[in-house]
Amino acid sequence: MKPEERREFARDLAGRLPGGFELGVATSAFQIEGATHEGGRGESVWDAFTTQPGRILDGSTADRATDHFSRMPEDVALMHDLGIDSYRFSFSWPRLQAEGRGALRTAGVDFYERLLDQLDAAGIASMATLFHWDTPNALERGWFARDTALRFGDFAHAMGERFGDRIGRWVTINEPATVTLNGYALGVHAPGATRLFNALPAAHHQLLGHGLAVQALRAAGVAGSVGIVNVHSPVEPASGSEADAAFAALFDLLHNRIFADPVLLGGYPTFPEEFAPLFSALTEASPADLAVIAQPLDFWGLNYYMPTRVAAGSGGSATPDGTSAAMASLPFHLADWPEFPRTGFGWPIAPEFLGTALAELASRYGSLLPPVHLTEIGASFADAIELDPDDGTPRIHDGSRIDFLASHLDAALRATAPGAAAASIDLRSFHVWSLLDNFEWAAGYTQRFGLVHVDFDDFTRTPKDSSAWLRYLAENR
Ligand code: BGC
Repeated sequence: MKPEERREFARDLAGRLPGGFELGVATSAFQIEGATHEGGRGESVWDAFTTQPGRILDGSTADRATDHFSRMPEDVALMHDLGIDSYRFSFSWPRLQAEGRGALRTAGVDFYERLLDQLDAAGIASMATLFHWDTPNALERGWFARDTALRFGDFAHAMGERFGDRIGRWVTINEPATVTLNGYALGVHAPGATRLFNALPAAHHQLLGHGLAVQALRAAGVAGSVGIVNVHSPVEPASGSEADAAFAALFDLLHNRIFADPVLLGGYPTFPEEFAPLFSALTEASPADLAVIAQPLDFWGLNYYMPTRVAAGSGGSATPDGTSAAMASLPFHLADWPEFPRTGFGWPIAPEFLGTALAELASRYGSLLPPVHLTEIGASFADAIELDPDDGTPRIHDGSRIDFLASHLDAALRATAPGAAAASIDLRSFHVWSLLDNFEWAAGYTQRFGLVHVDFDDFTRTPKDSSAWLRYLAENR
């Protein structure tokens, strides 16, 4: 698209946003804060993972990340310039409870109090995630241990008591699917376990932790609303064969349904007979646990990045987030989408599947689905800094990111418009992943998702063209 067409499309989108619809950006603590040794912060599983050889593509750690811990006021000023309504960030559990238990650490509390002061002054609402993957390493066996769910409930209670009057929206857990699959089944994320289907207790314990956290926040009397964030990837079989269809349905269970059904419907889905034994960790869950998991929610957070195509047969070790030897031992694999353009990560750019994701949520959960927030939408591209020929100002012309964001917002608005497949969904917001280029997990600093470019040597921030696009969208509402 040409710049004028982009502006016209942005004006069109702005005019179609429902009344009260919020625009925002998202980040997570481990990916931006740095200062991993300050103020008595404890070690997280990700700190440990990044020091293991070969785990992170560029051999980096998040010790400095984007240096947000020191530059937080500058980052809130950047958000203020964007004209956004809402900031989704995460609290670092090990900064607040170094050992994953006990009294909240003053240095951690002070930092988030200052962040909330700055947001208040900038007129930006807060959406705070309690767990975005940085499990305190002191919690033995991480989410394999049921006790971690109980510790998380206690953490939520302490946070609710401390910050309950200041947070607009609480998110318990971010993407338990990714933690389970990448972290415990395939080993491409921390803690690097490769237990395949034996990873499922980590799923159940996170869901239980979610339910306990909802109860704890409400018991602490928080003023804000409470929800969860799940990633949803519509799954397609690679061919019309029965085997591909069966494994695609299995992957949909693994990636989407087992994390949404118990929360919204009060029970795990029914598993096809041939696969049922693999899911025993879930089918044996007690009714008492399921009742905790199914706490009524005020909102549902949806992260969408891409659809997934699944084929029968082992077909190599590729996952969207890195290479996994464990993946190669499964009887199915993730297939390519040659017909779609790709992001810097190689992920298919398929905005229509965001519409599919919303339609699947609408048809599966109907009136049981609370209002939906798009809590992460974004893409990495190889952004290059160019000097403006007129005045030498650094510029990043990330038109691909603008087109990605605009086409996805368009797809979401179309899917939820009157008469469309997801018309029953009350869509409330669109949060771009991410404000800043940051530590992209196993890919280190090799994938830039930011609206704002970060120089990882001196931490200079340079807004990209996509920043101007978001501001334009916000201004033209
Ligand atoms: C996560 C983010 C991550 C993004 C891109 C999401 O699954 O919540 O932390 O940076 O994907 O990989």
